[in-house]
Amino acid sequence: MYLWLIVFLLAFSSKGSTAVNQHPLPTVFESVSDDWDLNKPFTANTTVNFVFATASSLLQAAPNLRYRNGHTIVPGIVRPGTLLYHGREDSIIPTTEWVAFDPEISYGLCRVFGSLEGSCWHLTFAAARPLRVLYFDGASVTQLGGGEMDSQDIITWGEIRPDLVIEEGLRIQKLCEWGKPLGLDGFVRMGTISEMMLCNFSSVNLVSSQHLKSAPSKIFQSSPPPPTAPIKPEPINSESFILLRALDRFSQYPGVMHVQLDLSHLVSFYDEKLAPSLVAVRSDKPRLEHCLLGITEEDLMRVRKYLEEQVLETPWPSLESGGNHLDWPTHLHSIVELYGETLEDIWNLVNSTASLAARPATQRVKDVFQLVESLVQRFVLYNVSPPSGFDKNETDVTWASSIFRECTVSHYLVISTLSLTTSEQLLRDAVEGTTREICRVLTKMWAYGVHDGLSEIFHDRVAEHPHEDLKKADALLYTWKVELGNLMKWLDWGVWLRCRPACKEQEQCYIPAWPFAVGNVSGMVWREDNPQPRCLKKLEPFTYADDEQ
Ligand SMILES: *[C@@H]1O[C@H](CO)[C@@H](O)[C@H](O)[C@H]1NC(C)=O
Ligand SMILES: *[C@@H]1O[C@H](CO)[C@@H](O)[C@H](O)[C@H]1NC(C)=O
Ligand SMILES: *[C@@H]1O[C@H](CO)[C@@H](O)[C@H](O)[C@H]1NC(C)=O
Ligand SMILES: *[C@@H]1O[C@H](CO)[C@@H](O)[C@H](O)[C@H]1NC(C)=O
Ligand SMILES: *[C@@H]1O[C@H](CO)[C@@H](O)[C@H](O)[C@H]1NC(C)=O
Repeated sequence: MYLWLIVFLLAFSSKGSTAVNQHPLPTVFESVSDDWDLNKPFTANTTVNFVFATASSLLQAAPNLRYRNGHTIVPGIVRPGTLLYHGREDSIIPTTEWVAFDPEISYGLCRVFGSLEGSCWHLTFAAARPLRVLYFDGASVTQLGGGEMDSQDIITWGEIRPDLVIEEGLRIQKLCEWGKPLGLDGFVRMGTISEMMLCNFSSVNLVSSQHLKSAPSKIFQSSPPPPTAPIKPEPINSESFILLRALDRFSQYPGVMHVQLDLSHLVSFYDEKLAPSLVAVRSDKPRLEHCLLGITEEDLMRVRKYLEEQVLETPWPSLESGGNHLDWPTHLHSIVELYGETLEDIWNLVNSTASLAARPATQRVKDVFQLVESLVQRFVLYNVSPPSGFDKNETDVTWASSIFRECTVSHYLVISTLSLTTSEQLLRDAVEGTTREICRVLTKMWAYGVHDGLSEIFHDRVAEHPHEDLKKADALLYTWKVELGNLMKWLDWGVWLRCRPACKEQEQCYIPAWPFAVGNVSGMVWREDNPQPRCLKKLEPFTYADDEQ
């Protein structure tokens, strides 16, 4: 009752006052640009989309398998009590070794090491205290020398050395030596599998040590190819199929939850101030080919120095208790959640597949408009309306620019009131640049629909029979498709990396990546040029669902 009264009074009083000050903004708000021209894309010469896409995909397998060359290094913490697993041929507790967050992975390795004996040891540990770690994004476990380990190399060897990709023992030793004065306990890498390099096992407690019977493993039997005697990749078998099923739980947000990252001290190679030499290295290259090879010595030293500062500045104890910074993973994900699925729905309507195309264009136009309006209607201020005679120039959308502005500011406002670290300023710019472009395109798409009389908000202007004209509907659908297609290509979010259509029962969606080889009998490969999610069928021999037809 009271609520309704208040709402009524508020509505009444805002009508009574002047319409000038409807959107008071705190004076701290300073946009990177105060230009709200709906026809000006924010897409040229910027890495904000890459920073956003990578920072919102950390610790999630799918996006990091597709864009395997990592560009981000982030400090993080593994909480006390977190279980860590290790498989080997004896019961000795090592000093420095890789441990897994998932027993499926360590058991697989246990079987590899126990192949000859028919038995192996599976050790379980628990973190004895908060472990300070550094996480490398991308498919950073991949031992192929194709760019996946470049960000590790910069610390390990002080330069990028694809030829040293299999020197895992030396790599661990070097990384730990570097990390010791910085207080680091380990390094986290991901790919299809995730693992942590633990520098000193005295930081964990042994929980159990099991001597297990084991059949020889078929999964990890192929070690990486040494330059002299190449080992051929093996096709996926039933054992790997089951492992892939288990690991699917890390494919999308939140991903591997055993590590809490501190994004306020993140280091990104997409930061153009930090690594300006990479701008030229990337120029005109598709995202899949972005890599760190080609970075100048000067930039490399700057990144290392910045990284060391970030690690030292990371507020470890407060990170452990929740941190005193913005919860960036949640903030970034909330934006992905807000738009990701709806943009995909709209895309499916405008880029119609056979079944949807059966729906007449006049109906699809209404369906699309409703979805677009659902994303922008919160930003249509009371004093906004298309100018009379607007229908004389359908492409003039200047009247809607305040909607573009309100929409962008809504994502930015909370961040602009905080005091931010240098890394957070990079994230803030990524959030602003990314949402600005989303808001621009959505507002523009919406305005075109308003011109065509599709909006209930301007009920005095709703056309009586909007889009009974099939030709006009097709034209609008096409315009929308171009605008949205460019936007989604630019955003390139990890949340869209799924099998479409979804896999059937007894099938598994996965992105082909080392150590799971793909191909056919005559040509198995560990590294595909353009890895895409696909359905794998559980049949002997294994086939891809789309190979069947
Ligand atoms: C983008 O950068 C390139 C090279 O630095 C430059 O030639 C080009 O004019 C820039 N484009 C825009 C739109 O700023
Ligand atoms: C591991 O940590 C223990 C306890 O802090 C220390 O005594 C030992 O020297 C460390 N080992 C190595 C290899 O750093
Ligand atoms: C758009 O539709 C075409 C034809 O229906 C299809 O081949 C294409 O994969 C679709 N594009 C996307 C990005 O879904
Ligand atoms: C319609 O508006 C667009 C965008 O503002 C402008 O470029 C164009 O010249 C206008 N056309 C006419 C006929 O006024
Ligand atoms: C098997 O893979 C090779 C290399 O990728 C390819 O050239 C060949 O066409 C494939 N054969 C079949 C039957 O798919």
